[in-house]
Amino acid sequence: MGAIERIEEYKVVPVVTIGKAEEAESLLGALVAGGLPVAEICFRNECAEGAIALARNKFPAMLVGAGTVINRGQCMRAIGAGAQFVVSPGLSEEVAAVCRESEVPYIPGVVTPTEIMKALSLGLAHLKFFPASDFGGLKTIKSLCAAFPQVRFMPTGGVSLSDLNEYLSFPKIFACGGSWIAKGSAEQIRENAARAAAACR
Ligand code: 3PG
Repeated sequence: MGAIERIEEYKVVPVVTIGKAEEAESLLGALVAGGLPVAEICFRNECAEGAIALARNKFPAMLVGAGTVINRGQCMRAIGAGAQFVVSPGLSEEVAAVCRESEVPYIPGVVTPTEIMKALSLGLAHLKFFPASDFGGLKTIKSLCAAFPQVRFMPTGGVSLSDLNEYLSFPKIFACGGSWIAKGSAEQIRENAARAAAACR
């Protein structure tokens, strides 16, 4: 099964920013223990590459993606570390090119019809709608889907546990992303993961 199909099964993607390398194992292990073995590990600091490699090594059943990938160099490092999918807050042609060459799925961030058209021209139809709540949430996604029936969205940004069911009940939404799942102590993260997984069942 490909990474996109696996994301469709989990339905929720924890957006993870690891502050210190030594925190990576307990944080990622808490997601696995909570029943949500998937993570978008953000390239927002120096820990990301090592955390992706650690996740692939310690949690082989986990689906490990790289997030906040905004240029070619980061994308190469992410894939070199073992990222199984790549996410950007926006649409980057150079990131799309590296992903295509490496045969790693790329989920770019979009908001507008023009950005969606650009993504489609690059052969990309699974898109992150970001930041979702600031740009009209489900209402905007429904309007966009009327024009672009071939597109599937992963809304992220301001999506909480209480919103999950409403978003996921719309069939064009293949998953929701959220950082809230991966915040707090390991015990809190395990509970958040379990709650998110239960909400999708
Ligand atoms: C992201 O980069 O995807 C967002 O920071 C996640 O948004 P959230 O923090 O509102 O869940």
